[in-house]
Amino acid sequence: MVVYGKGLSNLSKLHKVMRALRIHKFGGPDNLKLENVPIPSVGDSEVLVCVNAAGINPVDTYIREGAYAALPKLPAILGREVAGIVEEVGEGVKSMKKGDRVFALLTENGGYAEYVACEEENVYPLSEKLTFSQGSGLYIPYFTAYRALVTKCHIKPGEILLVHGASGAVGIAAVQIAKAYGLIVAGTAGTIEGMELVKKVGADHVFNHREKGYLNNAVAAIGGHGFNVVLENLANINLGADLTVLNQQARVAVVGCRGTVEVNPRSLMLTEGSIIGVMLAGATKEETQETAEVILKGIESGWVNPVIAREYTLDEAAEAHHDIIHNIGARGKLVFKL
Ligand SMILES: NC(=O)c1ccc[n+]([C@@H]2O[C@H](COP(=O)([O-])OP(=O)(O)OC[C@H]3O[C@@H](n4cnc5c(N)ncnc54)[C@H](OP(=O)(O)O)[C@@H]3O)[C@@H](O)[C@H]2O)c1
Repeated sequence: MVVYGKGLSNLSKLHKVMRALRIHKFGGPDNLKLENVPIPSVGDSEVLVCVNAAGINPVDTYIREGAYAALPKLPAILGREVAGIVEEVGEGVKSMKKGDRVFALLTENGGYAEYVACEEENVYPLSEKLTFSQGSGLYIPYFTAYRALVTKCHIKPGEILLVHGASGAVGIAAVQIAKAYGLIVAGTAGTIEGMELVKKVGADHVFNHREKGYLNNAVAAIGGHGFNVVLENLANINLGADLTVLNQQARVAVVGCRGTVEVNPRSLMLTEGSIIGVMLAGATKEETQETAEVILKGIESGWVNPVIAREYTLDEAAEAHHDIIHNIGARGKLVFKL
């Protein structure tokens, strides 16, 4: 039975099939195939979500390429975060019911699909204040930025933060979190539009990371003493330079890195600075719970407010995967809208 197209979900459910983007082998974006596959069944502790939007993350492309530490068994549906409506719950599920608006993390992928089964502990209520597309850009960017800034770097009010790569999903989340915690924030982007967005979401200073001398200008703008904290989204390009713009006891959180880099550790000796690796998957249950409480409160207060750059259809998968890695000029989060 082959069923394609939006608006056929009742028919799809009848035949227990759904549309999903699957890969059968690791490789380029053309390997993403839109197919009909069985709707997943729910285990006792699982929630079946009817997906309205699925977040697209750089990690999805690393997995698609086969260039990631934890690779799924093939064929696999990619996608690690979704927002939608609860369709069905397992017998042991207490916190959700059919019809609830939710967002969810998928530790085992599976989000690029009309339905996905999620562990209850990774599913959170989605406030009416946010759209489903915004909900699908909440977990990975905001929980990662919180982990980098609060859990790992212990940011304090009044400290000065550089968000290196502030125009993308994690960068915008970092700016919003840091401003809510009372920091002074400088952010970088690679285009005028990106810089305008970074300013709009709350950064006090904005610089273009494609302009010569921008880091010196950034240090001058904050009074010449360097940054207390740096959130680094492209460490293979910037880590060496980051170490030259630190204040005493500074912390550099390495969030994104796509290769090797040469650094002079002497800069760290002079400032007694630290470089801290950040991995969202490393969060403990307690840390995740604390992060969720802050982010859910931030949504209600209004300072957690994801920016969506573009919504793609599932048919535009190859273009979406090209854009998330190769497009210059991020302006927030890329999502699939189902
Ligand atoms: N460690 C973890 O657990 C974890 C979790 C989530 C994400 N990540 C990683 O974090 C990184 C950011 O993720 P994302 O979802 O925010 O991606 P994204 O939305 O594609 O954003 C990428 C950001 O990098 C910026 N950038 C490009 N060239 C740069 C340069 N030379 N210097 C500084 N910034 C530059 C882009 O700015 P312009 O486009 O304006 O130039 C944009 O702001 C990715 O590498 C991702 O894999 C890691």
